[in-house]
Amino acid sequence: MSTKYEFPKGILWGTATAAHQVEGNNINSDVWVMEHVPETPYVEPSGDACDHYHRYRSDIALLAELGFNSYRFSIEWARIEPEQGKFSLAVLEHYRDMLRVCHEHGITPIVTYHHFTSPRWLIASGGWESPQTPDRFARYCERATQYLGDLIGVACTINEANIASLIMEWGFAPPPRQLHKEAWWKATAKALGISPRRFSPFLYATSSKATDIILTAHRRAVEAIKSAAGNFPVGITLALQDIQAGEGGEKRAARMSKVINDVYLDSLGGDDFVGVQSYSRVRSGPQGLLPPEEGVELTQMGYEFWPEALEATIRYAIARTNLPVIVTENGIAATDDTRRVEYIRRALNGVTNCLNDGLDIRGYTYWSAFDNYEWSLGYRPTFGLIAVDRETQERTVKPSARWLGNIARANGIE
Ligand code: BGC
Repeated sequence: MSTKYEFPKGILWGTATAAHQVEGNNINSDVWVMEHVPETPYVEPSGDACDHYHRYRSDIALLAELGFNSYRFSIEWARIEPEQGKFSLAVLEHYRDMLRVCHEHGITPIVTYHHFTSPRWLIASGGWESPQTPDRFARYCERATQYLGDLIGVACTINEANIASLIMEWGFAPPPRQLHKEAWWKATAKALGISPRRFSPFLYATSSKATDIILTAHRRAVEAIKSAAGNFPVGITLALQDIQAGEGGEKRAARMSKVINDVYLDSLGGDDFVGVQSYSRVRSGPQGLLPPEEGVELTQMGYEFWPEALEATIRYAIARTNLPVIVTENGIAATDDTRRVEYIRRALNGVTNCLNDGLDIRGYTYWSAFDNYEWSLGYRPTFGLIAVDRETQERTVKPSARWLGNIARANGIE
């Protein structure tokens, strides 16, 4: 017989999106340029995405109706500051209205200031290798917070600050020297008016200098947000994997944890929380990543179906930082929605284990609210609780959305 587990009062139950992946036509961003050079590695451009820029009212109402009490979305720097130093009041007003709509529906907005995309002008002036970027980022955060701060519930400065280190460490991108010779890289740099060597978009900012710049940008952003009327919790989010050692892989696994996780986690003193984003586990052999273990189910992304990674990463993040955790992303790309329910059920089981041990977890955010633009993989992977028709933009609620929404509403699980 099952019993009901009650979550602590006040937990945020939400879903997440990112501007570029759902809004549509983010034309002033660097990723838009990457998507459109003839040699692009992106399988398709983002186009109208989910047209969330225009449909946010009904989208947010739908999330509230499903039972969620928070919504994590990002505001787009490339729209707010389309030219250096020129801030668009119309765009700020747009995001202000999104925040207003959240509050009208009893939804706490979790706002991310940077989710992978950057303004073209920033990248054209050195991007995430430029020592001026932290100041520029802080100035944008300050302006945005002055305009929006009274309505923000929780703020994340930078999404997955460690993503470039992870991409490099796992060999998902070639080393810089090789990368700079690739046709799409050269074409994008040219389109932005810089040399291939100076082209440094966020996802490929892999040098140790870039890591410093990203972490400095975070620190400066926290100060800027707090001084500009930011009276809400501020933190960063990290892509945390449950890194396990395969046979003989202990040393390499330790190195991976250090480069991908610890460098970042150890620098977060003074933040109000850490945003844990977890999807799967990885195993390391002596030379690097091992392929998925035989017999383990794979997700649409090719990751192992491993929801237990969430518990492991929450425990790891708290042990390292002693900060409260908000699960800012956790999810699965699957065509079979019953697998999504099973994935979330097991992930939440991990959350309850942590809570039972007295760990401070303030929220659970499923990635993603909608089937949306999965970067270079286009629209094929479907992470959403809500499907989106690519022609008509019609939203269809999946059973997993109702299932998780009911847990959110009840603040409890059977
Ligand atoms: C990112 C999202 C992405 C998701 C699924 C995270 O790394 O923050 O933008 O869509 O994972 O791959």
